[in-house]
Amino acid sequence: MALPSPLATLPGPSPMPLFGWRGNMVRFFLDPIAYMDSMRASFGNVVPLARGGGGPLMLQAREAEGTVFAFGPECNQAVLSQMQLFHSVRIHGPSESRPFERLTAGLFNMNGEQHRQQRRLMQPAFHKKQLDGYRDLMVALTAHTLDRWKAGETRDLGAEFQRLTLAIANQTLFGLETTETVRSLGEHIAEQVSLFLSPGARLPAAVPFTPRRRLVAIAARVEHQLRSLIAEKQRLGTEQGDVLSTLLAAREEGGGRLTEDELIGQLFVLFLAGHDTTRSALSWALFLLSQYPKVMEQLGDELEGTLRGEPPSVEHLGRLPLLERVLKESLRLFTPAPFILRLTATPLELAGSPLPAGTEVVLSFYHTHRQPELYPEPLRFRPERWEGFSPSPFEYVPFGGGARMCIGAGFAMMEMKIILAMLLQRFRVELAPGARIDRKVQIVLSPKHGLPMRLLSREQTVGRSPTPVRGDVHQMVELPGAA
Ligand code: HEM
Repeated sequence: MALPSPLATLPGPSPMPLFGWRGNMVRFFLDPIAYMDSMRASFGNVVPLARGGGGPLMLQAREAEGTVFAFGPECNQAVLSQMQLFHSVRIHGPSESRPFERLTAGLFNMNGEQHRQQRRLMQPAFHKKQLDGYRDLMVALTAHTLDRWKAGETRDLGAEFQRLTLAIANQTLFGLETTETVRSLGEHIAEQVSLFLSPGARLPAAVPFTPRRRLVAIAARVEHQLRSLIAEKQRLGTEQGDVLSTLLAAREEGGGRLTEDELIGQLFVLFLAGHDTTRSALSWALFLLSQYPKVMEQLGDELEGTLRGEPPSVEHLGRLPLLERVLKESLRLFTPAPFILRLTATPLELAGSPLPAGTEVVLSFYHTHRQPELYPEPLRFRPERWEGFSPSPFEYVPFGGGARMCIGAGFAMMEMKIILAMLLQRFRVELAPGARIDRKVQIVLSPKHGLPMRLLSREQTVGRSPTPVRGDVHQMVELPGAA
């Protein structure tokens, strides 16, 4: 007789009536933040998807026997600093799609020596000197966007940031103009992620008109578009110091150091990770500022006092303390990558809980950032908490940690500082009346209906109170004036 799984010893929620653990899985996918909120509040730091362990959440049954949610710095440290025990895993798409398999063969899904080697190849493009070289392009593309805006207009700043961060990623990382192909590539990648996360993607291949069918078609198109970008880059030459040049050069010289599939996979990861997270972070930062006009005013004063209407130079970026604190606090509250996924490679203990090999671990950074013992009054936006305060690398994890820590963290911070510094010297912002802010989690945590904002001149905002806001954002942050 087989021994019961150690997962069966962990306290957790009951499997749902009729549907069993699959019902719990659906509840998770409908609202991951709400599901994990209740797990953390009721059961502690390591909680199975359903009592008994449930089943795999995102992986396939042959790969994972059950799933746990893991919360808090102790779990972060154990998972992030032991890559050999907690593997990063490829989430399989439709079995009939070879392009999908190739697109998901990037850094995110590699382990051990292969991960180390590929990361070493990409690293030079993210060194400080190289990043400083991206400053001028970031400034020019931001100015180009802001020049189209006028005080008094209402715009969806979520969509504006989407276009701007895509253009910045494309031109700095790939050294290419933002053509129609690139724009539609961004849209197709977003659609691919959204289809992949829809329950219809798990229906059998034979069912027509399903998200699965569309996903197969979209993955083929994305791969085709990435191949066109590579061909275009080869035509232009690869001596430009951007990431794509570095990867292509490695491919040409390296005698198999980077296969064609790996190249496609790395580009897909960079496209995906290189702009969507930054778009999300900028959107939430602006939302918070719109709700805290006093902080927006103080930040405007800091920027105008230091920069005098000019875009920031590289040296300025380290001399804008309030801007730094606003971004840190916003990344804490609205962590763009709220959780990550790992698979246990051997039987082990996580924070005292026994896990068998083949357990999916969903590690929530979002919840670490809301622990009151680490962050007093955790639901309040308080940039001043960062004065003289440095949490440990596993207590503050917007960019992950350990050997897989975000390779683009410096790039993202620089980009967000430049965009906010330029934007807030030209405009103040106010949430459009009647706006609803709900969350959406499709890997990245975003405002579901975009971010409709009124652009105002500095004079127009004096003494104004923030626009009341509706939506489940109130579960995530305490807003001034909220009932
Ligand atoms: C605010 C913006 C960003 C946030 C919050 C963010 C967050 C993260 C997190 C949490 C991880 C760790 C994932 C894990 O451990 O599984 C990660 C990894 C990664 N990020 Fe970012 N990221 C951001 C911007 C960027 C940018 C701009 C780029 C590229 C230019 C980028 C490229 C990557 C890559 C390639 C990895 C995989 C690293 C590895 O596995 O070694 N990210 N990011």
